[in-house]
Amino acid sequence: MKIQLKKEMETLIIPLYGKARMSEMGIFHDPYAEAAVAKLDYDYSGLKIQNKTQVMLAMRAALIDDFVRNFISENPRCLVLHLGCGLDARFMRLGLQVVGMWYDLDFPEVIEIKKQLHCETSNYQYIASSVTDLNWLERIEAAENEVLVVAEGLLMYLSENEIKALFSALQLKFRSCTIIFDAYSKLTAKRAKQHPSLQKTGATIKWGVDDPREIEGYIKGAKYLKTLYLTDKNMIEMLPKNYRTVFKLAGLFKSAREAHRVLVMNIGE
Ligand SMILES: C[S@@+](CC[C@H](N)C(=O)[O-])C[C@H]1O[C@@H](n2cnc3c(N)ncnc32)[C@H](O)[C@@H]1O
Repeated sequence: MKIQLKKEMETLIIPLYGKARMSEMGIFHDPYAEAAVAKLDYDYSGLKIQNKTQVMLAMRAALIDDFVRNFISENPRCLVLHLGCGLDARFMRLGLQVVGMWYDLDFPEVIEIKKQLHCETSNYQYIASSVTDLNWLERIEAAENEVLVVAEGLLMYLSENEIKALFSALQLKFRSCTIIFDAYSKLTAKRAKQHPSLQKTGATIKWGVDDPREIEGYIKGAKYLKTLYLTDKNMIEMLPKNYRTVFKLAGLFKSAREAHRVLVMNIGE
């Protein structure tokens, strides 16, 4: 299947390829990423995706998978909004049998490709829209159950004002929701211009944050809950021995730990 994606949309190839490679190596189980990489007619070598990037993105996915799995086991009727989903197959990968409703959202060009890879079901649906065009929220019924918003590899492509507008719209729509997303530090966001794969896509990184409590100031009712680190012991244990030392070392330095991490917040009334 021939695909032509540019800029922010093309960045989806980076985690997809990382997950597929780590799955082939038996480090992270994602047969859906492997199948997608095999099916797409795309020159993966062009993005020069480094080994450490592949490992990090599979670890990020594993960390978020764990959180989502636990959230759903505690709230089996919850609504999940998976924003900037790219070609990630989290809904299938987790083998979710019980979930109230799950929406995968991305740009229309991405959803067109997704439709040729996976099928929608009665409780798994696609939304083809930019996340910043907030009309997409009208398609969703205000949920009585818990709401989980997952934004993996997304918010760095939005401006601070776009993030504030998104959080406000979520707050207006739902009584309360939990949001899990990864964030660069300000320095990482600045340096991301030099990242070889991101550079190739031409995507622009617009946002980074140092102190997660800064985000509480974006809207009234936003509450920072916790940070999950890619250098967590559990994460490192899933790696082959030759990678463990590098990640263990990175975990010792605050600047390296905080360079790219996963944050959990609640947006309430
Ligand atoms: C780095 S990829 C991450 C994809 C996926 N979450 C994953 O981890 O495999 C970034 C994704 O965000 C999407 N994206 C960026 N800006 C967006 C926007 N304004 N609206 C919707 N999707 C957006 C891109 O199209 C792309 O699929």
